[in-house]
Amino acid sequence: MSVKPTIIPIASGKGGVGKSFISANLAGALAEAGHETIIVDLDLGGTNLYGFLGLQNRHAGIGDFLKARSAELDQLMVPTSIPRLSYIAGDGRTPFMANIAYAQKIRLISKLRQLPAEYVLLDLSAGSSLNTIDFFRMSSLGLMVTVPEYPAIMNLLTFLRLTLMRIIERIFRKNEEIRLLLAESYKRPLLELPAGISDLKAAIAAIDPSAEGMIDRLCTYFRPRLIFNKGEYPDEMRIYRQIDDGLKSVLSIQADYFGFVFRDPMVRRSVNSHQPYLLEFPDSQTSKAIRKIAERVITYWRTPVEGSARLIMEQATREFQGK
Ligand SMILES: Nc1ncnc2c1ncn2[C@@H]1O[C@H](COP(=O)(O)OP(=O)(O)OP(=O)(O)O)[C@@H](O)[C@H]1O
Ligand SMILES: [Mg+2]
Repeated sequence: MSVKPTIIPIASGKGGVGKSFISANLAGALAEAGHETIIVDLDLGGTNLYGFLGLQNRHAGIGDFLKARSAELDQLMVPTSIPRLSYIAGDGRTPFMANIAYAQKIRLISKLRQLPAEYVLLDLSAGSSLNTIDFFRMSSLGLMVTVPEYPAIMNLLTFLRLTLMRIIERIFRKNEEIRLLLAESYKRPLLELPAGISDLKAAIAAIDPSAEGMIDRLCTYFRPRLIFNKGEYPDEMRIYRQIDDGLKSVLSIQADYFGFVFRDPMVRRSVNSHQPYLLEFPDSQTSKAIRKIAERVITYWRTPVEGSARLIMEQATREFQGK
């Protein structure tokens, strides 16, 4: 296939919010909708994606790719019970791969971009490790999963702040003075001023005036897509206002909202019965919400949608009332 895939890295500030569950089932919904899709377990050191796909933890994967310098990534693709969905395992067979050398990471990233599919979803580790951030910044339109709770939102903002700083660090990597300035800023807590991107921009622009326009452009095209998971009531989504305020005032960026997924106790049952949730409970509210996210990904992944949070909250409310 000559056309490059749409890469969708999936991260979260906080652990256990449902990245792997959403990754597996969103990938399944994209495949069900007719699109060749690959889901890659990049949670090195914490692999569990196979469970959400109803597979065993026995396949050669990213760990083997990193060890055997010559292996090709597409040879690691494993078919799943969902037609058009393939899976690439993490490092379940080869532990201790969580610390990858930078050159290895670059090689892996370049091969991921060449995988033969329309969509390549990357299930990442929780939190702000350098690996996770480097995989997340493979696209300026990464997906973030969060639960609608204040501490998770704070972690989400911290993750995005560190990602932006890492992108800026790579852009200006040859400038020693800027590198030192960034090393200092990394250590600052989110709410301690001046920790915002606009302050950072001013400080960097004082060293290199070209930084101003460059960072402005970065903040325009860097546009995370957000999903709320484990929702109980649609009005929990009101927390989006705090997210939008934080993104704007601290990070000078905007986000689009892609879905509100209900908590369903049956999720655990599907893992234990070795079936993808989407196949076992195709008509549940949770499955419907995930299919809606797939539709949105297919129709407007690259398009900013004004007022997307409100639209999704209204839709979740309608679904909730029709329960
Ligand atoms: N919508 C949901 N309803 C009910 N349970 C859910 C839902 N989404 C996820 N879970 C459950 O929450 C737990 C964490 O999910 P998952 O492993 O996908 O999170 P994660 O963000 O990938 O975690 P980690 O940070 O460890 O990688 C699992 O037990 C999973 O079955
Ligand atoms: Mg996970």
